[in-house]
Amino acid sequence: ALPLKIGIAGLGTVGAGVVRMLARRGDVIAARIGRPVEVVAVSARDRSRNRDCDLSGMRWYDDAVELARDPDIDVFVELIGGHDGVAKAAVEAAIAAGHDIATANKALLAHHGVALARAAEEKGVGIHFEAAVAGGIPVIKTLREALLGNEITRVSGILNGTCNYILTRMQEEGLSFDTCLDQAQQLGYAEADPTFDVDGFDTAHKLSLLAALAFGVKPDPDAIHVEGIRTITLADIEAADELGYRIKLLGVAARTGHAVELRVHPTMVPKHWPIAQVSGVTNAVAIDGDAVALTLVGPGAGSDATASAVVADLCDVAAGRGGAPFGWRAETLRPAEKAAIQRH
Ligand code: NDP
Ligand code: HSE
Repeated sequence: ALPLKIGIAGLGTVGAGVVRMLARRGDVIAARIGRPVEVVAVSARDRSRNRDCDLSGMRWYDDAVELARDPDIDVFVELIGGHDGVAKAAVEAAIAAGHDIATANKALLAHHGVALARAAEEKGVGIHFEAAVAGGIPVIKTLREALLGNEITRVSGILNGTCNYILTRMQEEGLSFDTCLDQAQQLGYAEADPTFDVDGFDTAHKLSLLAALAFGVKPDPDAIHVEGIRTITLADIEAADELGYRIKLLGVAARTGHAVELRVHPTMVPKHWPIAQVSGVTNAVAIDGDAVALTLVGPGAGSDATASAVVADLCDVAAGRGGAPFGWRAETLRPAEKAAIQRH
């Protein structure tokens, strides 16, 4: 069978991880899906940087938009980041060129997902984004495919690995917020601008994508009440501990009558609840359906975990699996409304 030809823009934590995983697992993947998946072209800023992966035989582009227009790729993989600028321009160019898209960029999809989905549907191409929410946890596939028979009433959980890593290390080792954030950055978990992590916006971006899949509402970060963890101190964590609680940053999307309530905030969780024991970079997503309620737990960030989700998307494209990006046709998505948070 003809190979599926991949172009990857962005060769950082995630992009280089995808190149390494396809090099390591390519033969098995080809045998299992009946078609080789080959990276034929790449783009990043600095051509001379050592990325600990073999790029030989791949075309190099300094300009990601040029790569997106390459007629000799089938799939454009966007792993640059940012909700505007080159990532958006490149994804738009790739859709216009008729390429399928795989991306880990939740900020881009949260802000521009409806327009991109509409453009993709018009062109008959797919937008795949398993890596954009909860790293290696297959939550997109779960909501879009596996639980289709369910009426979903609530999706909630720990959606940011950096924040959970920080809160866990503060709790367990008494380290300062700044030290823990620094370590999360060294490990490749944090966003290029970690404000998105610690102020809750990354969780809100992911929550907006989960709400679109679960409830058919437009991704819209402005419809979400957002509080982050920047102001949580060691004293807060100790006080919560003495009262029998752990502090976790949760994202909650819940159906309330005809509306959908969307909120992100630090939450005191009783210590004996399973979600209180989710530690480090691990994420957890609880889904309440009328037939099935389940919780998925797994690595929420990092090179291998996120590459695993991108590679799964590439296998879907190779196997011809797709459909509307958010599981509902873009024109049928309805507006989300800002949640009213009741304070006590
Ligand atoms: P990195 O900062 O590690 O890598 C970004 C890459 O983009 C770098 O290779 C950089 O090039 C390249 N780049 C930046 N600007 C341009 C440009 N103008 N043209 C071409 N390439 C460019 O980011 P991550 O790999 O961590 O994240 C990538 C995406 O994945 C983001 O959307 C992020 O939110 C998402 N994500 C990240 C996860 C993680 O654990 N890190 C998990 C889930 C999603 P150069 O190397 O030359 O500087
Ligand atoms: N910065 C994000 C996190 C990466 O820490 O969860 C994974 O989306």
